[in-house]
Amino acid sequence: MHDKYRLIGPVYELLSFIYSGRNIHHCKNAMLKRRHIRPGDQVLVAGVGHGYDAIAAARLGARVTVVDISATMLAQFRRTLAKEAPGLIIKTLHQDILQVDHQEQYDMVIANFFLNVFDQSTMEKMLAHLVNMGRPGASVVIGDFSYPSGNPVAKAFKQSYWMLAALVFWLLANNALHRIYNYPQQLEKLGLRVREKRHFRLLGMNCYWSILAQKPGTGEQSPPGVAEASLVEEPQQESAQGTGAAAAPMDKPQPAPVTASGSASPVTRHSSVTD
Ligand SMILES: C[S@@+](CC[C@H](N)C(=O)[O-])C[C@H]1O[C@@H](n2cnc3c(N)ncnc32)[C@H](O)[C@@H]1O
Repeated sequence: MHDKYRLIGPVYELLSFIYSGRNIHHCKNAMLKRRHIRPGDQVLVAGVGHGYDAIAAARLGARVTVVDISATMLAQFRRTLAKEAPGLIIKTLHQDILQVDHQEQYDMVIANFFLNVFDQSTMEKMLAHLVNMGRPGASVVIGDFSYPSGNPVAKAFKQSYWMLAALVFWLLANNALHRIYNYPQQLEKLGLRVREKRHFRLLGMNCYWSILAQKPGTGEQSPPGVAEASLVEEPQQESAQGTGAAAAPMDKPQPAPVTASGSASPVTRHSSVTD
């Protein structure tokens, strides 16, 4: 299989740091919080890349599966895992995710800076496939460049900022060139309800967002409950767990994350960590 990330894969995280500071990093981790992931949840990370987000989910006790079509990216992911969390078990699939037939298996499906590599029709097909991999009631999380809003100058800046990145990836990885996608609209078209959005700012403008949407539960048309929450958040300092502040006790006993030795890690057992 031709590896489009052979050149750019090893320096991908460095490029994203140069381009955004820590904004992309914070965006990718924005929904990986106790209130969204319970220990034991099945989490899928599509197009994992270096995979700090997958590791953050596994540290919360999720059973994580990552998929990537690029051997270079998966090698980077394995390196990151060995360095950051050698005890964690994360299932790794080297495959085109469209060939992965895990229908309705996951509690959360994560697509961080993944859907933007495709042209519009492939992106729509891919998103429908990812949604299909979530169980009824599952969360679908998309972190990416945010859809331009605001005054015409801000909109033009955001499109140009995205286009510059898209051009680099078009040249070096043959990714598609297109305008910024409106993911909330796409998710709603597929029957999901957008539950939360978090924005990440560069030069005072919301350039990145993380969106959490929910599939309807069994027998539901669309999930009930809270209205869409949209908030603007400055990047937070990370703790060692990659989580934010404010402790929120959990309401039921939770199993601890599984380690390579098969034992439960003490890190988040009986946790009141955070959200
Ligand atoms: C722009 S990178 C994003 C990587 C990572 N999610 C991140 O946020 O850093 C896109 C990733 O998707 C992977 N990818 C592209 N097409 C894929 C496919 N059809 N199946 C699985 N992975 C794919 C690429 O190899 C690459 O690692």
